[in-house]
Amino acid sequence: MREKIEQLKKNIEQFKADTLQQLEEFRVRTLGKKGELTAIFEEFKNVAPEQKKEFGRLLNEVKNLILEKLKSQKESFDAVETVSGIADKTLPANADSIGSRHPISLAKNEILEIFARLGFTVADGPEIEDDWHVFSALNFPPDHPARDMQDTFFIEQNPDILLRTHTSSIQVRVMEKQKPPIRVVCPGRVFRNEAISARAHCIFHQVEGLYIDKNVSFADMKQTLLYFAREMFGENTKIRLRPSFFPFTEPSAEMDVSCKICGGKGCNICKHTGWLEVLGCGIVDPNVLEASGINSKEYTGFAFGMGIERLAMLKWQIKDLRLYFENDVRFLEQFQSVI
Ligand code: DAH
Repeated sequence: MREKIEQLKKNIEQFKADTLQQLEEFRVRTLGKKGELTAIFEEFKNVAPEQKKEFGRLLNEVKNLILEKLKSQKESFDAVETVSGIADKTLPANADSIGSRHPISLAKNEILEIFARLGFTVADGPEIEDDWHVFSALNFPPDHPARDMQDTFFIEQNPDILLRTHTSSIQVRVMEKQKPPIRVVCPGRVFRNEAISARAHCIFHQVEGLYIDKNVSFADMKQTLLYFAREMFGENTKIRLRPSFFPFTEPSAEMDVSCKICGGKGCNICKHTGWLEVLGCGIVDPNVLEASGINSKEYTGFAFGMGIERLAMLKWQIKDLRLYFENDVRFLEQFQSVI
């Protein structure tokens, strides 16, 4: 009898079920009416009284072993079933959570696509620039405040190497390489020595635009920007150009779009003016064309520059610039539905 118990114990320890049916067969084979353990319990009746205690303990041990085996094997089947969903085939599948693009990428792609429809190609340039491409070639006077450490990040105290403060530097690189006609948009990251707040950041993104050909006029610029504003903010959008100043354009203007939240009536977003400022623009200063080797008697052009964060803020009513850089998924997930 002792041998039988030992043998049964070994069999149980080695047992592993591949299917639920095998597990059920194991239960019947051991604990069933004609099962192996049941048979030994029958024999137990004939055991001498002084051995009953010892055999009783052994038999209970084996019984517990079987029960534990049944339980653990059943649990492993359950786990597999829930993972693969076989347990209840009528349950709806768990939806995979999809990723989303960052709102800066979404806005940038949309801007580039709109200008692509007007024949603008995309140009790129370095983030670490020299004074020439960021300032001098763009007609900044030597004492312009942007050249100050307060506004610009210089690299290792070298006044010639700096982080670009605007993507206008790319228009200089394009003009140096390419003959007109030129029609480019230049997206990129820019850097300014500013304290970080809800409305300012030391890193942000811009898209610069440049159009140079014979007889390009202010009217061409206005029509191009009106088309852009309507594609970006809706077909009823109006634009307004206010006189402004930039060293690299003359005349210069700032463009506002009618507030799409209140339709121009006045609200918190547009500070009750009905207008939102979106970009700077102007006719390229002849000095800028000449600095890059383009004959200003033969060619004219317009340029414009806009902040992507700002446009995305207006488009999706994002109230704090810092949200763009914090990578909080609760913020980012809200852009899943935007392609
Ligand atoms: N570079 C200007 C800035 O960073 C933006 C800008 C204004 C670009 C007018 C232009 C322009 O090309 O014509 O604020």
